[in-house]
Amino acid sequence: LASSHYNFVVKEAPYKRLCHTKKILTVNGKFPGPTIRVHKGDTIYVKVHNKGKYNITLHWHGVKQPRYPWSDGPEYITQCPIKPGGIFKQKIIFSTEEGTLWWHAHSDWSRATVHGAVIVYPKFGTGYPFPKPNAEWPIILGEWWKKDVMEVLQLFLRTGGDPNISDAFTINGQPGDLYQCSKSETFRLSVDQGKTYLLRFVNAAMNSPLFVSIANHMLTVVGIDGGYTKPLTSNYITISPGQTLDALLQANQNPNNLYYMAARAYSTGLNVPFDNTTTTAIVQYNGNSTPFSSPIILPNLPYYNDTDAAFGFLGLLRSLASNEHPGNVPLKISSHIISAISVNTLPCERNNSCEGPNGTRLAASMNNISFVWPSIDILEAYYRHINGVYRPNFPGFPPYIFNFTADYLPLILEIPKRGTKVKELKFNTTVEMVLQGTNVVAGIDHPMHLHGYSFFIVGTGYRNFDKDKDPFTYNLIDPPLRNTAMVPKNGWITIRFTANNPGVWFMHCHIERHLTWGMETVFIVSNGKCPEEHLLPPPPDMPPC
Ligand code: C2O
Ligand code: CU
Repeated sequence: LASSHYNFVVKEAPYKRLCHTKKILTVNGKFPGPTIRVHKGDTIYVKVHNKGKYNITLHWHGVKQPRYPWSDGPEYITQCPIKPGGIFKQKIIFSTEEGTLWWHAHSDWSRATVHGAVIVYPKFGTGYPFPKPNAEWPIILGEWWKKDVMEVLQLFLRTGGDPNISDAFTINGQPGDLYQCSKSETFRLSVDQGKTYLLRFVNAAMNSPLFVSIANHMLTVVGIDGGYTKPLTSNYITISPGQTLDALLQANQNPNNLYYMAARAYSTGLNVPFDNTTTTAIVQYNGNSTPFSSPIILPNLPYYNDTDAAFGFLGLLRSLASNEHPGNVPLKISSHIISAISVNTLPCERNNSCEGPNGTRLAASMNNISFVWPSIDILEAYYRHINGVYRPNFPGFPPYIFNFTADYLPLILEIPKRGTKVKELKFNTTVEMVLQGTNVVAGIDHPMHLHGYSFFIVGTGYRNFDKDKDPFTYNLIDPPLRNTAMVPKNGWITIRFTANNPGVWFMHCHIERHLTWGMETVFIVSNGKCPEEHLLPPPPDMPPC
């Protein structure tokens, strides 16, 4: 039996990539960080020691933490950060999740290197809803900057423009052998002919959705975001930052060849420079006579801005909706929310001009509110009735209704208001939320993530949401259940969930630069009637603000 107590020491360690060595922030000196393996229903304790030089928090992405947001992690939302030298023991409660999730830093841009996989196995005595694989690997997709990531962050905050793009994508921490100085470290998957492998994908990249494919091999998707799906066989996958995906790989090809697994960006932003680099790992068959240097077959990945390829794949995913893993899509909705999500501009705070359009600085918003981080966490303020930290007036509708995806939009939409506004929900409210991408400044896809819940994606479409027509297209039978969903560029998605997890829960775009610019809001879900529906009390060692 695996231990339920872990020590996570956050500290710097030297790592060499792309011919350069630099110090990066790690957990226990590892990059990617340690994998956590639990069974459904387990509770674990992670003691986090901050031995780095920056404030830090850790988040358990996709873990619902029923009634216990105290260990959820986003800085200034559910806790104040752990200061250098500080310790915080987090309690992670696994309830309904099953499959692959992950953990990552949720402060500044530390998550670039501070992240790892979480694997939730079925309860003892139960099994997968698919044939048991012979072996499994976490496949963590990431990004690597030659520069210090904190410098990248500081620089673009100063200039008000876009951040520098990364220098490489990575698979399990390795750029792979299409990059310089990466050949001998390329991640290798050694397989036996005829066997089946479970690949547990995590997109831990900071700013890029990715396409992933393996030459000559199909992937059969069996799970997403810590829940099972109907099996879906495809020759590539689309995975956005924040998302996880479980897929079976059948080792059924000519064992005398070597095959690349390759990943590269899916990118539609107008002014965002496209990272045309490709990260690779190698699939090799055991016991064959292939010389180490023989040619490796590359897969065909969709074109970098192929939105139909990206959403064609995502749109085929269906939750299992079986007896053992039922889907229960809320059918009667008590709260309808529409949120326009936009990239915006704000006046430059420097004397001279910033690098955004017309000398402005770039920002982002939900319903034209660009989120401002408070200096005491919202959960603490809510729990202890501290006034003046947030206001419960996050608008449930955009300030103006337009065709948000038109080429020219009213200037008034370009400049958001700033504020720490939250949306309050009564316990057990059934929520339907339409997330509408807009063409303000420039349209781009947004992977929106909700803490504390998984939600059903009941509908999606390109262009402006049509409230009279689009609801008739909703799938209320077996829609995919996710914690992170891609809103297509200048398109929309509709999500549904039942607000039955009391507490303070963050919602934000998982593109890190959009999070930094303010594309987020907070839900505060009240207690239910019975004591079993109440927020649990905080632990004694919450980091002080
Ligand atoms: Cu994976 Cu709020 O994050
Ligand atoms: Cu975004």
